[in-house]
Amino acid sequence: MQYNQILEDSTGSEHIIEIKNLCKSFDGTKVLKDITFYIRNNEFITLLGPSGCGKSTTLRIIAGFETADSGIVNFEGKDLKSVPANKRNINTVFQRYALFPHLDVFDNVAFGLKIKKVNKKEIEQRVNKALETVGLANYGERYIDQLSGGQMQRVAIARAIVNRPRILLLDEPLGALDLKMRKEMQIELKEMQRELGITFVYVTHDQEEALTMSDTIIVMKDGVIQQIGTPIDIYNEPKNAYVADFIGESNIVAGTMKKDKEVVLSSGITFECVDPLFPEMTEGIANLVDVVIRPEDFYVDKEAEGRINGTVESLVFKGVHYEMIVKSDDGIEWLVQNVDPSAVGSRVGLYVDPDDIQIMRRSELSPDFGSFGIKHPENQDNSEAKENTVSDNVVEEADIKEDEDAEVETAK
Ligand SMILES: Nc1ncnc2c1ncn2[C@@H]1O[C@H](COP(=O)(O)OP(=O)(O)OP(=O)(O)O)[C@@H](O)[C@H]1O
Ligand SMILES: [Mg+2]
Repeated sequence: MQYNQILEDSTGSEHIIEIKNLCKSFDGTKVLKDITFYIRNNEFITLLGPSGCGKSTTLRIIAGFETADSGIVNFEGKDLKSVPANKRNINTVFQRYALFPHLDVFDNVAFGLKIKKVNKKEIEQRVNKALETVGLANYGERYIDQLSGGQMQRVAIARAIVNRPRILLLDEPLGALDLKMRKEMQIELKEMQRELGITFVYVTHDQEEALTMSDTIIVMKDGVIQQIGTPIDIYNEPKNAYVADFIGESNIVAGTMKKDKEVVLSSGITFECVDPLFPEMTEGIANLVDVVIRPEDFYVDKEAEGRINGTVESLVFKGVHYEMIVKSDDGIEWLVQNVDPSAVGSRVGLYVDPDDIQIMRRSELSPDFGSFGIKHPENQDNSEAKENTVSDNVVEEADIKEDEDAEVETAK
């Protein structure tokens, strides 16, 4: 089932790698639980997720440093199971660059080619080209300990691309660099990938990095893929509360839908949206959903009926915009970004364009996520709410009202 779901993303382009139903356990703990995805030729694809979710393990299986318990890794249609790591036409760049300190830059990059007994002239050409690509054309004679962190990382990349792999695996390659250098290298890496026409499989836990560089992002959590899509898809159309919260800041609140294109927030305010009811939902009853509103999508205006009315609790200048927390009259704290500031203590009314409201199914990932937003009625100690619940997705409006005083989450 999962595989069909992923095929929906297909544009019909060639898949250089297909990964099907990959499972892996360490010491009885499952770290990859039925992972399925494909990688298109020449794409920049990123595995994104928090520490321990299985990103490096997935990469190591593709590289051949680790074997899966079950599942398939196909490279251009051929099962890689019996192909050793050094025969895979795949190279890896690690976070710790593992360069040879006793060799100069040129010899570090040339190392693999010398082992393969490539002739001297070709080695020289290829190494120089690789150094040029990473912006180190005149650094061949420098020793590794005479380089900055960013330059060492470039050497590590040159050493990988000099082999002309079809696929370059990069496991948090910018992790050791400071923020400014990271940002520069992100742009350079992306340009390099276009120029070289190599497929890049990139691993990071930094959502901004993933959004900046990738053609496709795979969001993982606890060894399970949560969503696959373009950065824009993943940002604008997160599939669940986990993805919405992980990719950028979000307001995630409980809501109900009785009919298409209309959602009622927990406080009783009705907003127009663009989503129809999910197919399994019944029209006319209050189907529980998660509602995601990005902070930058609010309009901040005067109090009025039909708006989220509340008081500005804090105001911080963030360079291009102001960031505010607005506490609405039902106790929810909303994270709001606006180019104009509203004074702390002032009253405002918030509203949103219908297509900036993202409706998601409730899932086991829904509760407790998001720094801002209210708990779902079902998750309160509210036995009456449970009795009144017709199905997992339905709750009586009265139960939502009861929840109005619920604690607002301010974690994070
Ligand atoms: N060789 C191993 N032996 C035992 N457990 C392992 C081994 N390699 C990884 N693990 C465990 O498998 C899980 C997934 O690890 P993995 O390295 O894939 O995570 P990750 O997503 O890359 O995390 P990070 O962002 O911290 O690098 C972790 O809980 C880790 O402790
Ligand atoms: Mg890792």
